[in-house]
Amino acid sequence: MNYTVSNFVIYLEKDYDEMSKRASSIFLQYLNKKKNGVYGFATGTTPEGLYKELIQEYKLGNISFKNITSFNLDEYFPMDPSSEHSYHHYMMEHLFNHVDMDKNKINVPKGNITDYEKFCHDYDMKIKENGGIHLQILGIGTNGHIGFNEPDDVFSKGTAKIKLAESTIKDNSIHFGNSENIPREAISMGIKSIMMCENILIMASGKRKSDAIYNMIYGNIEPQNPGSVLQLHKNVTVVVDEDAASKIIDKTKRI
Ligand code: F6R
Repeated sequence: MNYTVSNFVIYLEKDYDEMSKRASSIFLQYLNKKKNGVYGFATGTTPEGLYKELIQEYKLGNISFKNITSFNLDEYFPMDPSSEHSYHHYMMEHLFNHVDMDKNKINVPKGNITDYEKFCHDYDMKIKENGGIHLQILGIGTNGHIGFNEPDDVFSKGTAKIKLAESTIKDNSIHFGNSENIPREAISMGIKSIMMCENILIMASGKRKSDAIYNMIYGNIEPQNPGSVLQLHKNVTVVVDEDAASKIIDKTKRI
């Protein structure tokens, strides 16, 4: 089922698998319309199912990644791209190694550079030179972050090195064994970079995301609630499972 709540087109799906299938079919529509477009990818647990579906579609011959350019949202800092914990490694393992991506057109922020200010500036310029991002995939943190733009006093602008929130360190430490090993910083596309994407597809699954989804749709638009800025974007599709949507179901009574 899909619903429109203010500027958001919301697809409400039964569970994680259905959310992933829906996101995949939406991605497919965009990709088949713009086969040489620029696509923004996210990492984390949420899009893993989507990437599995996309690999399946590729194997069935329904989709090709050959002519696209990709930009990832973020990377831990410091982080070597060859580390199994890097988002570079994540993308290769979960998607790029399994499809016909041109490896020269893959862009993931680097977590092992010393001149990160120049790197961040160049990353934004490269997005611009490629004509901007046609479709950006997003997840959302339990604290409402998008990319690694954590709750703050101001909305961030372009790509930058940021400090991870304690709640994010806690949430993501499962991937590192314990919270001692997880980097405290990251390179992330900024809120302005995200708002400049032409289309956004944001996904969320599970009860732990229900507050973030509620706040994104109905919360005050403020930097302490980063996802809320999407209320100002014209083309946002939200794909959620019933658990992640549990608070908005109560609110609207319609869903
Ligand atoms: C990942 C990213 C983050 C995640 C968010 C949710 O590239 O930018 O905003 O989307 O932390 O993570 P998961 O999906 O692991 O719950």
